Amino acid sequence: MPRVTNGSVDGIQVEDVRIVVVMVGLPARGKSLIAQKIVRYLSWLSIYAKAFNVGSYRRQDNPAPNAEFFSTGNTQGEQLRKAAAEAAVADMIEWFENEGGVVAVLDATNSTKERRRWIAQKCDERGYEAMFVESVCDHEEIILGNILEVKTTSPDYKDMDPETAVLDFKKRITHYEAIYETITETDLTYVKLINVGSQVIINRIQDYLQSRIVYFLMNLHIKPRSIWLSRHGESEFNLSGRIGGDADLSARGRAYAQKLPELIRESIGDRKITLWTSTLKRTIQTAEHLPYPKLQWKGLDELDAGVCDGLTYKEIEEKYPEDFKARDDDKYNYRYRGGESYRDVVTRLEPIIMEMERNENIMVVTHQAVIRCIYAYFMNVPQDRSPWMEIPLHTVIKLTPKAYHTEEERFFANIPAVSTFRAKHTSAKMEGEVQPELVKTEGDVQVENS
Ligand code: ATP
Ligand code: F6P
Repeated sequence: MPRVTNGSVDGIQVEDVRIVVVMVGLPARGKSLIAQKIVRYLSWLSIYAKAFNVGSYRRQDNPAPNAEFFSTGNTQGEQLRKAAAEAAVADMIEWFENEGGVVAVLDATNSTKERRRWIAQKCDERGYEAMFVESVCDHEEIILGNILEVKTTSPDYKDMDPETAVLDFKKRITHYEAIYETITETDLTYVKLINVGSQVIINRIQDYLQSRIVYFLMNLHIKPRSIWLSRHGESEFNLSGRIGGDADLSARGRAYAQKLPELIRESIGDRKITLWTSTLKRTIQTAEHLPYPKLQWKGLDELDAGVCDGLTYKEIEEKYPEDFKARDDDKYNYRYRGGESYRDVVTRLEPIIMEMERNENIMVVTHQAVIRCIYAYFMNVPQDRSPWMEIPLHTVIKLTPKAYHTEEERFFANIPAVSTFRAKHTSAKMEGEVQPELVKTEGDVQVENS
């Protein structure tokens, strides 16, 4: 993954900044989940970020301790936990110094002032900015839900029945509560997220990158929801193998638009949903029959192919052979003459991703490159792979974020369409050809190949 160690990347200033996001909170307050989300978000924006989970260092020597290990009276347990924190911090420093890290997330309870002071000092000594992120939650049912969702299946409770695991984990929380000190150190930079963001307290946020992280944290929620993604139906340009443009749907594309409400009806059920399209005709026509409130985003328009707009891949290869090769060599970073790169698309999608985090159920009808970028965000796909993913036409992808992963389902309309996919280093021979395996009439909509 391209790393950013200094300078500015697409508007995000990271000059000489090294930030340590220090998670703070009692067990089962969502710290690890928040840590992972920060890393995924920053990595998607090409900011080199990594989480250091103290629990996994502790597990190297104590794979499955019971609650007593965490008791205040257990001096040996305390020493071992401190040793795990020291090992994580040492690896973090090594990563900053030798691997060009920009944002580290130190994922542990960091529950006492003394522990936080120690971390702040370590950061000060090396010129890292420490930013504490405390998750406070006193909703019993959320905490119990968290324990059931992620703790009973944690490696700490391998081979233990869930009921015993819940009891033990609750005891562990009680031990932490005995020594826990919420952040009141006003000289520190911190964000306090109270009851899943229903209140947010911010103190001494210092620079642009920190403020981006805060804004991201403010938009997170844990309400169950899904995101439905679809490319527009097959367009006239797809049929002739041309890229870009603002063409109408083909006959088969219109058939897909007709079928779309039925294709997703069951999976949406009676949920409230908002539908986002780009401003191009093919996505608006695809969404035409969907009975949901609609919003058009310019930011969802297809990757701008600049001087290549309206050409076929074959014509591009003939007219601009060097560009064609350069794009294959580094598709994520290649910017079309007068147009955009995948990196540019990610930058313009950032506010849209932020809105997606803030909102609940959303369906997005957009374009091949844009879906690749959105999908890469949710599924954590690295930049060297994301521009090469196959996102077929006439298929709905449903993504459901879970605690530590995102679930994916695909719904196929079974309406044939051309393939617009071109594999790396292949000549563009797919253009205008109907993908044979897709020419089926399994669905109840029958259309003729043109
Ligand atoms: P531990 O200290 O044991 O590592 P943790 O604080 O890291 O616990 P997670 O493992 O991240 O807790 O818990 C994940 C659960 O927390 C998920 O079920 C998720 O829905 C929930 N969660 C996410 N954000 C929050 C939040 N801000 N407050 C409370 N719960 C949250
Ligand atoms: O061919 C359909 C299309 O949406 C074009 O408009 C766009 O240029 C292209 O896909 C993006 O895919 P790739 O980056 O693989 O060329």
